Amino acid sequence: MNYLQINGGNKLNGSVRISGAKNAALPLLASTILSKNPLTIKNVPNVKDINTLLKLLSNLGSTFTFSDNKVIINSSTITSTMANYDIVKTMRASILTLGPLLSAFGHCEISLPGGCAIGQRPIDLHLKALELMGAEIEIKQGYVVAKAKKGLKGANIVFDKITVTGSENIIMAAALAKGETKIVNVAKEPEVIQLCQVLQDAGVQISGVGSNELVINGTDREKLDMKDFSVIPDRIEAGTYLCAGAITNSKITVLDIIPEHLEAVFNKLEDMGFSLKIHENSVILEPAQKIEARSIVTSEYPGFPTDMQAQFMALMTQANGVSIVEERLFENRFMHVSELQRMGASIMLRGSSATVQGKIQLYGADVMATDLRASSALILAGLIAKGTTKIHRIYHLDRGYENLEKKFKDLGVDIIRLDE
Ligand code: UD1
Repeated sequence: MNYLQINGGNKLNGSVRISGAKNAALPLLASTILSKNPLTIKNVPNVKDINTLLKLLSNLGSTFTFSDNKVIINSSTITSTMANYDIVKTMRASILTLGPLLSAFGHCEISLPGGCAIGQRPIDLHLKALELMGAEIEIKQGYVVAKAKKGLKGANIVFDKITVTGSENIIMAAALAKGETKIVNVAKEPEVIQLCQVLQDAGVQISGVGSNELVINGTDREKLDMKDFSVIPDRIEAGTYLCAGAITNSKITVLDIIPEHLEAVFNKLEDMGFSLKIHENSVILEPAQKIEARSIVTSEYPGFPTDMQAQFMALMTQANGVSIVEERLFENRFMHVSELQRMGASIMLRGSSATVQGKIQLYGADVMATDLRASSALILAGLIAKGTTKIHRIYHLDRGYENLEKKFKDLGVDIIRLDE
């Protein structure tokens, strides 16, 4: 197994290019199940989660090539509808094949994803919505066995809670359903919006895109004529590099972004004392005179993203004063706290909130990555820690960050990947 070794203390400088968004590419790849023709998807990040989904699609019968961030995929050759445990257990997002397989084939068998480091993460809302669309669903031996013999039909769905992959699953299911599906309290994340736009380009009528209520007119199982497209930039990767600039109080440029998607992160950084020069597809972060302590409350887009919570917590250790993090989406998303504490951070946990006392000198230590974003917080801490930080179990990072060491190295970080 690999680990990352960082010698802290360097200021960063220069620029970093942001890759395509993993969380956008995943549902978009799953949506090719709905396509009757092959298509090319550009700006696909070459990260573990994407390769896992491609492997799953290939097990189902898709054929693809993936090079230079370009996927050419033909899912019209799918013959199997079973996503087995071996793959689903490595990536929860495999559940994104449920909606499209069920609507395209009238049945499917998807292993239940189970819990993960950041909490229980049920899929009850996905299942309830599909049942409203006429699916018969049973849980058998750890599998969701779903059937809709005559195909799915349009329905009125009101999500009790906003769910990103739940919304994506139902949008894909509705695209091939018979009649009109109304989805109320749908997620508005940019990744959900791109999925809608790609389906619109393939001829599906969708109204309300970008609002919290969608109306989708299904094609009654007629497969789609999907067109080529390029995946939107990864707002979480961009936010992570901005936090790297911020925690080291350096000037860096982050390229290939959609600034609108980063508003909550920009606002918080400015509030903490950093200056931002925002251009059409890039942003320059300038150091703060004094990093101010500020609090965050995670929420659904356009609120402050839970996927940026851990990185900001690392940054808060270098802010002057007390900051509070209130995690509203995932009950157990504080796995990074104990590792940051081992590096010297002063953080008090109470239920879903963490109180961070800054500014504290952090010290290099052996730390363990526990989930994707928690791991990136440990890298950020390593950037300013005195001495050497070794981050173990970095397969979590490889799930979602493309060319991570190279990007950090190019910004001036002393970082190296080594074998245990
Ligand atoms: C997606 C993102 C993940 C991000 C999260 C929240 C992908 C692949 N992953 O995850 O990076 O952290 O959104 O922005 O896009 N819930 C239920 N029942 C359900 C579904 C969800 O109770 O059936 C709850 C969850 O436990 C959680 C909340 O709803 O408390 C939001 O979860 P959800 O938006 O579904 O997260 P994911 O789509 O899994």
